Amino acid sequence: MNQHCDLALSNARVISMTKGSEGYTPSPLCHIGITNGQITALSLEPLQATNTFDCKGKLVTPGFIDCHTHLIFAGSRADEFEQRLKGVPYQEIAKQGGGILSTVRATREATQEELTELALPRLDGLLRTGVTTVEVKSGYGLTIEDEIKMLRAAKALEAHRKVHVSTTLLAAHALPPEYAGRADEYIELVCKEIIPLVAKESLATSVDVFCESIGFNLAQTEQVFQAAIDYGLTVKGHTEQLSNLGGTALTARYGGLSADHIEYLDEQGVLALSETNTVATLLPGAFYFLKETQQPPIELLRQHQVPIAIATDLNPGTSPFADLTMMMNMGCTLFGLTPEETLRGVTSHAAQALGMSDRRGQIEIGFEADLAIWDASHPAEFSYFQGAPRLTARLVAGEFDHV
Ligand code: NIG
Ligand code: FE
Repeated sequence: MNQHCDLALSNARVISMTKGSEGYTPSPLCHIGITNGQITALSLEPLQATNTFDCKGKLVTPGFIDCHTHLIFAGSRADEFEQRLKGVPYQEIAKQGGGILSTVRATREATQEELTELALPRLDGLLRTGVTTVEVKSGYGLTIEDEIKMLRAAKALEAHRKVHVSTTLLAAHALPPEYAGRADEYIELVCKEIIPLVAKESLATSVDVFCESIGFNLAQTEQVFQAAIDYGLTVKGHTEQLSNLGGTALTARYGGLSADHIEYLDEQGVLALSETNTVATLLPGAFYFLKETQQPPIELLRQHQVPIAIATDLNPGTSPFADLTMMMNMGCTLFGLTPEETLRGVTSHAAQALGMSDRRGQIEIGFEADLAIWDASHPAEFSYFQGAPRLTARLVAGEFDHV
């Protein structure tokens, strides 16, 4: 006799996303038992439970994980979009004090509560595409107070919606105007004041750096990574997005959770990733929106068995998309990924990119009951049809959120 559960999802066709092709193949009709927010039973036999929800043969996947977003910001960059359509490049706009710095100005003026409020409609877009965990970066504050304000605004989203928020400090996103010509001094502020305070107050679990000609160089990135490790935080990088500086290999060397963007990554960089557990996170929304032509090295990543994640990179400048399944579609059409790769990219591999692969991103006994129930029958549906949502419900830590 099965043990008694708090909740049973009956007649589910489970896409477990466990390793191997069986993880992608929908199971025969089965029953998922949930107790105390965890998956406690997976059975072909009906389960004893306090409450039962009949899935009526619908697909059940792990809740999707958006492992790279800049969800918290104020202001709009619609004017910049128009400029870019007239031919002004992204880097040029950044050099003229627009781009990231225009969002910094608006974000500094907003209160923590305003930032949370502004983010809710964007978050709702993600939730409608099955997201149950979202990573959110700071990086539009660039002072101690404003970076902390952003991280707190991100965490506060959990009080408004059923979702897990994972926060990342990205104080090294751009050089704040008041530090113009003094990048090393700003990096010192990040390493000696911002990181220690963020670690002490447990405001973030990871530290990210924009390692790029319009961001920070390799030596500065390494200083930030070292400080992060010293304070017990994990690292990740915005690397090889617009050029090849070697930031990905550096991220891997510091045991990074993920190297993100990576359009300009070469084989050496891919090898560096393959030697660690660092995930390659692809951000097709930014590639599309910036009309990039340099393709990330998908075939090399496959050859060297580097886990690939897919994320929205939701931000006002390069990826204004609050839709994770749209990114799966772009991953297939723009990068040539298979629907199976994109589904792993928003479940098990995305969990790995956030250091949570032991508890989220798969449907397994002992894993958290973060699930999505879909009115769909084929596992390629998620990356295939867009704009007519098929989500029936999400469960976060075993709690229902019906659509
Ligand atoms: O991931 N690459 C740097 N950061 C963001 C863009 C942020 C912005 O333009 O506001 C990105 O693409
Ligand atoms: Fe980003």
